[in-house]
Amino acid sequence: MTQAADAIWFAHLATMVPNGIAYGAIEQGALAERAGRIVWVGPAADLPPPLRGPATIIHDHAGQWITPALIDCHTHLVFAGNRAVELEARLRGDSYESIARAGGGILSTVRATRAATEDELFEAATPRLLRLMQDGVRTVEIKSGYGLTLESELRMLRVARRLGAAHGVRVCTTLLAAHAVPPEFAGRGDAYIDHIISDILPAACAEGLVDAVDAFAETIAFSPDQVSRLFDAASGRGLRVKLHADQLTDGGGAALAAQHGALSADHLEYTSDFGAAAMAEAGTVAVLLPGAYANVGAAQPPPVAEFRRHGVPMAVATDCNPGSSPMCSLLLAMNLACCLFRMTPEEALAGVTRGAAQALGLAAKLGVLAVGMDAELAVWGVGHPRELAYWLGGFYNVKSCGLPSIGVAARK
Ligand code: NIG
Ligand code: FE
Repeated sequence: MTQAADAIWFAHLATMVPNGIAYGAIEQGALAERAGRIVWVGPAADLPPPLRGPATIIHDHAGQWITPALIDCHTHLVFAGNRAVELEARLRGDSYESIARAGGGILSTVRATRAATEDELFEAATPRLLRLMQDGVRTVEIKSGYGLTLESELRMLRVARRLGAAHGVRVCTTLLAAHAVPPEFAGRGDAYIDHIISDILPAACAEGLVDAVDAFAETIAFSPDQVSRLFDAASGRGLRVKLHADQLTDGGGAALAAQHGALSADHLEYTSDFGAAAMAEAGTVAVLLPGAYANVGAAQPPPVAEFRRHGVPMAVATDCNPGSSPMCSLLLAMNLACCLFRMTPEEALAGVTRGAAQALGLAAKLGVLAVGMDAELAVWGVGHPRELAYWLGGFYNVKSCGLPSIGVAARK
């Protein structure tokens, strides 16, 4: 006998299941949830009557659309200060690289972040997280990388965890100590990588603060050899890796990430066909970051057509950070991915649901509306899901989101 559901939603469903139907759509659908999991999805007319028990909560959103709750799979949400002066400098003709080489860029945010207390970082990041949540985001990846000392990297990751607990959002923490060579190690990148491997990574793992390890492979950051050493150490601890790859130059970053079985390679403006093929082979997700592309004034967009041709899964994220992408709207990122990268609105929505879940190693429980998945939903006041990528910055804010029947606090 079928047990009653805790809650049932009636709405059009963009399940995002890749079943050959646009958006995996089920018009006039129903979705039943028990104990936080989806137990039934289909046309409302086919809903088995026993699922609707006397205590079942009914959410009637007739005419509206439900998608999986959105996932921002690449952010640097925790930082102090801002770098508006760099926008002015870039408009005067300076490049992102030249600003970084002159000691600005990431290192300027490192100075501000090191000087901030844990509470100050938490206060500064809170409105950014709340803005993402207005766009239906309920899972956020947050990277460290503006501390670059053991103590300050751990502080950033603790703040990230605290943000998730305070706001009922799933936060995936990524250790990005290999974001820039800190001033104490100037000219000694290898020694800094050694310090990450022997000190920062073990301490962060001991505190349970690391879901994945990231690095910035670039001429102004770390070499392929340095990244490889760090990734080998991460893999040795059973951690998955991600890479800021081919953002400013083709440094072979996509292939390097693939070689290490990375969950994702991110940015990818300069990725070669060889790199795209390697990613497809390894199942590495291409995380596309149109905010950084637009704001830095990159010369070429990522090779979306090649990713499609090779079957590389794609995700879209804000890359929210004070330098390359000061942006806290995932719906805006979707619009930019369409207008700047020629992704379709369906690809953009898949990129902030199914693709983003895969980029975080969470595809077994998040990203599509299907039986057995976590019931994390966003309800939208739109007439069609393509509208989510249509408005610049999400005029149609999410109507409701989360799990009304069991609350949203204790999910991980
Ligand atoms: O994803 N590319 C490196 N890291 C960040 C930018 C960080 C910054 O400029 O503060 C990015 O674009
Ligand atoms: Fe980034």
